[in-house]
Amino acid sequence: MIRTQVAIIGAGPSGLLLSQLLQRNGISSVVLEQRSRSYVEARIRAGLLERGTVELLEAAGAGERLRREGLVHDGVELAFAGRVQRIDLKALAGHAMTVYGQTELTKDLGDAHAALGGTVLYEATDVALDGFEGTHPRVAFTHQGVRDEVECDFIAGCDGFHGISRASVPAGSIQTHERVYPFGWLGVLAEVPPVSNELIYANHARGFALCSMRSMTRSRYYVQCTPVDKVEDWSDSRFWDELRARLPAGYASRMVTGPSIEKSIAPLRSFVAEPMRFGRLFLVGDAAHIVPPTGAKGLNLAAADVRMLYEGLVDYYRSGSGTLLGEYSARALARVWEATRFSWWFTTLMHRFSDDSFAQRLQVAELEYLVESPAASWSFAENYVGLPFA
Ligand code: APR
Ligand code: PHB
Repeated sequence: MIRTQVAIIGAGPSGLLLSQLLQRNGISSVVLEQRSRSYVEARIRAGLLERGTVELLEAAGAGERLRREGLVHDGVELAFAGRVQRIDLKALAGHAMTVYGQTELTKDLGDAHAALGGTVLYEATDVALDGFEGTHPRVAFTHQGVRDEVECDFIAGCDGFHGISRASVPAGSIQTHERVYPFGWLGVLAEVPPVSNELIYANHARGFALCSMRSMTRSRYYVQCTPVDKVEDWSDSRFWDELRARLPAGYASRMVTGPSIEKSIAPLRSFVAEPMRFGRLFLVGDAAHIVPPTGAKGLNLAAADVRMLYEGLVDYYRSGSGTLLGEYSARALARVWEATRFSWWFTTLMHRFSDDSFAQRLQVAELEYLVESPAASWSFAENYVGLPFA
């Protein structure tokens, strides 16, 4: 039997970041992760960080390489109806975004965690939560063939959308809200210089496209695809042709192409579970909510949850007051719904939903308004860089 203050399920960005922040504040935790460390570190996901996320990573002692290698983007480009318009995020909302791969970030968190002597039990299977509705939460698991148990004060469910934490809550105590979008994103990673210095989000009659990057020599590009498309349907040449067809001519002709080093399809969904606290169990990050990737809010929302939970736990162990912890669910959900709204709106604005010409003309009209009206540009920018914390 292991005794710790906080048992953390899942060693994704949420679990590792929380454990690291707690450790630096003298609060013990044990992280239980079903996969291997190399599997966790190889998962490719959006890599666009809000200022608040960068600050939290620095507070966790995992911000050093990020400061050195992260690409600071002061603006973003919107392409539609044959034109391209830049939104100056820094000038409008006062903050830039940082481009840094989530794979790199997970590695940095893993290294910082190991350097502080934190415990992550990788390949811990059959994780089972118990007692969180009372005063003695426990988490049972199997590690290296041995069944064992963690006894703790609190459990943090950082185990993603398919995890066991949310599934352990009695059905009657949880409410879920969901929207599944009728398309997916086909993503390609390639060792080619990005077509532009900044990200390009493109609305096109053939469907949405996004030009992102991991570095000045590695690009991450996406095109909207159907929900039934398979990666095998998309040769590299088909992908590049389709991406070029959806970009303004200047970019299409300038784009450097090359063999893909990764290619995958992700479905798009919005999902929110409420509340995010059940007695002594807290849901954090993707375990509680999913946003479509348009705007890259997923990781930033997870970091915001971690910030609020960690502040609550530090306050609890320092002062004995449960007030901040009691406010966790409501505070986190307020931000979750703001980001859910923005991600849904941006997705709806940029993607092709049907053949309906009326809907397509409305999208273009809204994009014209967005780039022409200072008020609309500002509203976009303040959401894109991340709304301020209350
Ligand atoms: N037992 C132990 N670990 C589990 C279990 C389980 N039953 N189920 C899932 N896990 C682990 C997964 O293997 C994964 O490593 O929990 C981890 C959850 O990590 P993520 O899915 O990355 O979720 P989170 O840490 O909240 O990160 C949010 O990742 O999906 C993106 O857009 C999202 O960028 C955001 C970030
Ligand atoms: C990415 O780089 O993978 C990325 C960037 C911005 C998004 C989504 C994904 O909105």
